[in-house]
Amino acid sequence: MSDPVYVTDALIAEDIDAYLATHQHKDMLRFITCGSVDDGKSTLIGRLLYDSKMIFEDQLAALETDSKKVGTQGQEIDFALLVDGLAAEREQGITIDVAYRFFNTEKRKFIVADCPGHEQYTRNMVTGASTADLAVILIDARKGVLVQTRRHSYLCHLIGIRHLVLAVNKMDLVDYDQATFDAIVADYAAFAQSIGIESFTALPISGFKGDNITALSANTPWFTGPTLVEHLETVEVDTAADQALPLRLPVQWVNRPNLDFRGFSGLIASGTVRPGDAVRVLPSGKTSTVERIVTLDGDLEMAVAGQSVTLTLADEIDCSRGDVIAAADAPPQAADQFEATVVWMDDDPLHVGRGYWLKLGAQTVSVTLQQPKYTVNVNTLDRLAAKTLDLNAIGVTELATDRPLVFEPYAQNRSLGGFILIDKLTNRTVAAGMLNFSLRRAQNVHWQALDISREAHASLKHQQPAVLWFTGLSGSGKSTIANLVEKKLHALGKHTFLLDGDNVRHGLNKDLGFTEADRIENIRRVGEVAKLMADAGLIVLTAFISPFTAERDMVRAMLPEGEFIEVFVDTPLEVAESRDVKGLYKKARSGELKNFTGIDSPYEPPLDPELRVDTTSESPEDAAERIVAHLLARGAA
Ligand code: ADX
Repeated sequence: MSDPVYVTDALIAEDIDAYLATHQHKDMLRFITCGSVDDGKSTLIGRLLYDSKMIFEDQLAALETDSKKVGTQGQEIDFALLVDGLAAEREQGITIDVAYRFFNTEKRKFIVADCPGHEQYTRNMVTGASTADLAVILIDARKGVLVQTRRHSYLCHLIGIRHLVLAVNKMDLVDYDQATFDAIVADYAAFAQSIGIESFTALPISGFKGDNITALSANTPWFTGPTLVEHLETVEVDTAADQALPLRLPVQWVNRPNLDFRGFSGLIASGTVRPGDAVRVLPSGKTSTVERIVTLDGDLEMAVAGQSVTLTLADEIDCSRGDVIAAADAPPQAADQFEATVVWMDDDPLHVGRGYWLKLGAQTVSVTLQQPKYTVNVNTLDRLAAKTLDLNAIGVTELATDRPLVFEPYAQNRSLGGFILIDKLTNRTVAAGMLNFSLRRAQNVHWQALDISREAHASLKHQQPAVLWFTGLSGSGKSTIANLVEKKLHALGKHTFLLDGDNVRHGLNKDLGFTEADRIENIRRVGEVAKLMADAGLIVLTAFISPFTAERDMVRAMLPEGEFIEVFVDTPLEVAESRDVKGLYKKARSGELKNFTGIDSPYEPPLDPELRVDTTSESPEDAAERIVAHLLARGAA
């Protein structure tokens, strides 16, 4: 390891404690730089790092720059080398994701998110923008407002970045011409207004020459400032606005070191809090008052948005991870249906109707999305019709969660309105989104409590409800075996009902075809019906291909533990095809029938079914016997 490489203010050498103290109390600005490769982003970032004279060893290591060449402690760093390093890093694809760079000035600490600009990196930009207070939109003075400028501005505005800086760069290459600058600013202002951007700050700069970066440039006497760094140092970070809003503290965890102490910890998303304040815990709606505000450095008399604290309450009320502690007289709403704007970030597109995990702060719920109302072409801002959302697509859609979410519209509160979606099988983050508003229908439909319970229904029939879920290829033998099982149960005096794919598709589901979205909806409806029938005390048998793990798991999750019995009718494709009872495989092979399972539409076999039937070695009769025995053995029938 070489010596740390940094060049910094004299205070470090003189008095390290004083230095640290001044830096601890500096506030922090997070910003994002946007612009295409040629707009001079690397040069500008290099300039900021260089001029602030705060470059750390790890940054240089990341730049793969030889520390001997750029100098060791106390020596000047070569500006050109630094910029080359940043540019090389980007070209080599090291920063395909988002690169975060840190620098300090006397007044503030800065974190810059440097994101790739191309359209295929929309998701990266959204990631970088999601925590930014300010965006620097770079424009090449020779080129003016480009498609990328519009796309980046739209994304920054969408993500809710409140401060925009239009940095008209490379002014040296247009002879510092004021008319050129003014024309670009006017052009941008018209566009900004059209998408609802209320204000921005325009600066004529040269990252390469350093004009108007830290000092006003003699080359632009017509420009009175501020310089870029002055602006970054003085722009008001949004905590003041956040503090004026009502209190919102999403509870990250509950601290219970002993029976005498119960504290609720989290980051204050908005508002202020003092001991004695009346608060309401959502979603339960229970009220109490704040007793103490506990931190590692002792109790506080007041805490504000942006601070992490632990609150204790005067009453022993229920409050757990994911709940929100709010001002008692101005609580947020809870709802389970929303309109949202969603940015899709995964190669696997949105599956309409499929269950995903939705994470909003510490709340995690299951969610399904509808077909998008529209997607936005981020270059032209046109609204387009779409059936799904592909990688990098931005769309507006309605979604429904399985439990109420405590939320606020994203435009009002980023932490209570911003969410991510997670694929339940792969655990990948597949999308980021913003809740726009809750749907009124969600507020007006309430669950009706009924007196005859599912237990009462079942006990009258002297049986335990169950759902025997048969899955397998077309022609695998699902219906044949399910039919035999039902006959046997019926003979034993059991109350049963068999839902069969071909039959249900003649009635309830006759509007559905065989696209992926339709199959998902087919299984969702059948799952809901099976659940109602199980609630009525029946033993339900279903015979559907049900090709996707996610939907089979969804139905499993809808039912009480142990009531869902997955029966995998494991017949190889060749065998099912050779039987071809309905002649459909022949049609599918000839291309006459599209999207046929096993041919040109996938089948995901269950990995851990309760029962597996190999129809090549076991007769339908034997399989049915075994299934009934399994059911009786577990006390379900
Ligand atoms: S599922 O995939 O949505 O679960 P489901 O079990 O309801 O399918 O319906 C499958 C039945 O529909 C098959 O047994 C077959 O008779 C018929 N069918 C018609 N077209 C197709 C197709 N493209 N893929 C699969 N089955 C089809």
